[in-house]
Amino acid sequence: MKIGILTGGGDCPGLNAVIRAIVRKSIQFGWETVGIENGWKGLMEIDTVPLDRNAVSGILQKGGTILGTSRTNPYKTENGDKIVMENAAKIGIDALVAIGGEDTLGVANKLYKSGFKVVGVPKTIDNDLSGTDYTFGFDTAVNIAMDAIDRLHTTAESHQRVMIVEVMGRHAGWIAMHSGIAAGADLILIPEKEIHMEEIFTVIKTRLERGRKFSIIVVAEGAIISESDNIESKTVVQDEKLDAFGHVRLGGIANILASIIEAKTGIETRATILGYIQRGGSPTAYDRVLGTRFGVYAVEMINAEKYGSMAALRGTEIIDIPLGDAVDTLKTVGEKFYETARVFFK
Ligand code: F6P
Repeated sequence: MKIGILTGGGDCPGLNAVIRAIVRKSIQFGWETVGIENGWKGLMEIDTVPLDRNAVSGILQKGGTILGTSRTNPYKTENGDKIVMENAAKIGIDALVAIGGEDTLGVANKLYKSGFKVVGVPKTIDNDLSGTDYTFGFDTAVNIAMDAIDRLHTTAESHQRVMIVEVMGRHAGWIAMHSGIAAGADLILIPEKEIHMEEIFTVIKTRLERGRKFSIIVVAEGAIISESDNIESKTVVQDEKLDAFGHVRLGGIANILASIIEAKTGIETRATILGYIQRGGSPTAYDRVLGTRFGVYAVEMINAEKYGSMAALRGTEIIDIPLGDAVDTLKTVGEKFYETARVFFK
């Protein structure tokens, strides 16, 4: 048996832990493994790298992915799906483990429906894949954001400023919610909860009346501000150009909010955009363990011929679910969780 491994989409702390675990569990079964370089691109172009025990030695604590990644979508090329399957056969792959988020696993699911032997591992710092309680990479991103917010807290207090911290989260506000709650943010703005500028001013004003001259606002890059006199666009886009999966590049909402807030309240307001720092560097212990469990389980799914499935965390157990259940709808922040965070607004 020869297993191919690919990592697609944005890089994410913990990817190497998954790769290492797949290789090590495969060795236990007496199977071979091969790395596909740069996501689906490597299967479109036959770009592979040998993956034996030594190749995955010492990578557990490393950020990024030793296999490289891309946002290549085979379905954007005519007969791309056939090319992928033919190339997989040429490489001699019997089954593939695709490690990715909604886009990479969406492709895996379509290929599975065309007869390709593939299983999935859920990866995204955004934590927005359905069917799994957590994706690996999320915990690391939350801890990086929490640490940054803690640091901004002290400078906000010293200067009596409003600090806006922009975190990632295109469609879902998980990073904003978790880091914001953990760091004691005064307001958290997320894509799931459209908010009017007046509500933001009220929080800052209420704090001022209590003698709290600074405020910390955490905003997800995809947060939606209701149209008002001051702001026209609902989400702030950095680049209108669509990637292969039809996504625009978000980012910059913190800067816009900062200038509106400063103009309206007269309080010095500063914006910090955390950006790719949230995705870089060494994974937390939680992500290393979760990634390792997912990787081992992916090989067990192949052994049980559970193709078209994804490893998922439910409570404390790793289970398998159909890939479609993970990618058909995104997992977004629910009302109950938001209400808990709201207790601490103002
Ligand atoms: O999907 C993960 C993510 O980090 C999003 O939060 C963010 O919008 C996007 O990737 C950025 O993607 P890129 O690496 O293509 O700029």
